[in-house]
Amino acid sequence: MKEIQRFTLGDLALPTRMLFTGYLLAIGLGLLMAGAQIMLTHGMADGKPGLSVDDIVYSYYGNRDGTKLEAKLFGSMKDNAPAEVKMTLIKWAEAGAPAEEWQGTIKPLVDQYCGPCHANIATLPNITEKAVMDQMTKRDEGASIATLTRVSHIHLFGVSFIFFFVGWIFTYATGFSTVTKSVLIVAPFAFLIIDVASWWLTKMNPNFAWLVIIGGFGYSAASTIMIFTSLYQMWISPRHTLKTTQHID
Ligand code: HEC
Repeated sequence: MKEIQRFTLGDLALPTRMLFTGYLLAIGLGLLMAGAQIMLTHGMADGKPGLSVDDIVYSYYGNRDGTKLEAKLFGSMKDNAPAEVKMTLIKWAEAGAPAEEWQGTIKPLVDQYCGPCHANIATLPNITEKAVMDQMTKRDEGASIATLTRVSHIHLFGVSFIFFFVGWIFTYATGFSTVTKSVLIVAPFAFLIIDVASWWLTKMNPNFAWLVIIGGFGYSAASTIMIFTSLYQMWISPRHTLKTTQHID
């Protein structure tokens, strides 16, 4: 299939090139800022700088291995109760801290072994109260469904707009086969959908975290190629299909 390209980026009149250039520069800067923001927020999720698969797991899946109560009973609180009391508390936490066991079984133990400090020292969380103990036994489930829904639709709508115009401008580029050009134009949308889908998949299963990185990397790469090519062919090496005296507004 041979397509006739009627005009190129180099044929565009100055005002149109200015419009496209302003847009591409602002979007390029926006993409850099988005990358920086991801590094600063998600990048630190595992406590270490730099974005890693662990960061993504912590952000979307959470840390469901254990609760604070368990961690403390194995750690700094380990000498504050006999082994069988600690075992009862740990099993209770592992079972998801069922409320029906609180009054009869758990609270008496907490009152006896933990209360002397936790119910009396004002700076310590008073874990003899159910609501305070709930904070110690809840698991970090990562991003909530409500957050994911909100961020997903904003991201899909907003980012599609960016890629639509970047892609449209790029349709006037020359030097690419029709297939290459089409792939480059559709790639950001495909990666965007992969990216958003992978947030949900990672929330359910941490093994999908790498898909988040592929999605983000994929659409950054495709849009970077389109932005740089478009700017280059508008200003540095304009190629013409029209006679140079003609311009397209
Ligand atoms: C001798 C006093 C003392 C006793 C008894 C005690 N704790 Fe603590 N607890 C502390 C202190 C001090 C801290 C804060 C320092 C730390 O986190 O290690 C703390 C912190 C904690 C924390 C973390 C609170 C937070 O939000 O960071 C948990 C959970 C906890 N204790 C559970 C228990 C449990 C369960 C028991 C009973 C088996 C218990 N503690 C008995 C003194 C005590």
